Amino acid sequence: MPDLSVELAGIPLRNPLLLASGIWGESGQSLIGAWDAGAGGVVTKSIGSRPRPGYPNPTVEEFDSWGMLNAMGLPNPGIAEYPREIRAAREHGVLVIGSIFGGSAEEFARLAREMATTGVIAIELNLSCPHAEGFGTEIGSDPKDVEEVIRAAVREVKVPVIAKITPNAADPAELAVAAERAGAKGISAINTVRGLAIDTTLARPVLAHGIGGLSGPAIKSVGLAAVWQIYRRVRIPIVGIGGISSGKDVLEYVMAGARAVEIGTAVAREGVRVFGRIAQELDRALSERGTDRLVSLVGAAHRGFEMPTADFLP
Ligand SMILES: Cc1cc2nc3c(=O)[nH]c(=O)nc-3n(C[C@H](O)[C@H](O)[C@H](O)COP(=O)(O)O)c2cc1C
Repeated sequence: MPDLSVELAGIPLRNPLLLASGIWGESGQSLIGAWDAGAGGVVTKSIGSRPRPGYPNPTVEEFDSWGMLNAMGLPNPGIAEYPREIRAAREHGVLVIGSIFGGSAEEFARLAREMATTGVIAIELNLSCPHAEGFGTEIGSDPKDVEEVIRAAVREVKVPVIAKITPNAADPAELAVAAERAGAKGISAINTVRGLAIDTTLARPVLAHGIGGLSGPAIKSVGLAAVWQIYRRVRIPIVGIGGISSGKDVLEYVMAGARAVEIGTAVAREGVRVFGRIAQELDRALSERGTDRLVSLVGAAHRGFEMPTADFLP
């Protein structure tokens, strides 16, 4: 059996398949469900300072097999309530990464401090939600803001801080470079891609919020491109996210430079058994290649790769 274990920011993981933030992470019990189904770790939904109900329905639109558009509005019970769910999962032995979102560096720092007391193995900063005014992309699109937020959070906690960056910026790799400079120990890429669906009968957007975030297979190559570009610019590990639903998808992300991956929409669609299936597919893909250890393939697609120039014609 090939060895799927990886180390992420100093944390040993039994395999690289993590539950993505915002999916299946409602309660301690659901986090436990993902872990028991074989996930290497779980990321909580993004938690803010206060309880938020999120946007009114419709908040999700499913497109055939290729994608999903959502504008949930970061519904969450708030940092005072949610830690009990994390503790329940921790008591079960689940490796939990706590996700937080805020509107300023100070708020992120305060949330990171509180999140660190819950026993999480790392904290992922959601700098990338495309549909929550004042949070996410609005604070995560400018490298200067990213640097300030990460620096403030890193100062407050001993656990590794991971920056989850947006694809909805001119140069996602520049955001990763800023996060690394500020002391982040990992980069998660990507969050959802800004998108819209129109109901042509009603002549209005399908989602109550209008603009939403696209996820699922449609964004896989966007995520891969971000990981590829980030790998060439930073040394800290990358968690690849976006459209992963098979062992081959994971392998592509690993070869592009990811050390671990998060899986969202595929879990929403197939349930947590997706972790077991993808792990099996990954095992098989590695065996077929004759590869013993997954980590030996991190960044493999970069080796020997040279971008051709366009000026070779006479
Ligand atoms: C319904 C839904 C809710 C989400 N909520 C969050 C969230 O709270 N925090 C966050 O960082 N990302 C959130 N995301 C983004 C996912 O974590 C992930 O980055 C994105 O969906 C791409 O991965 P996928 O194609 O595997 O779904 C959410 C995605 C979906 C579909």
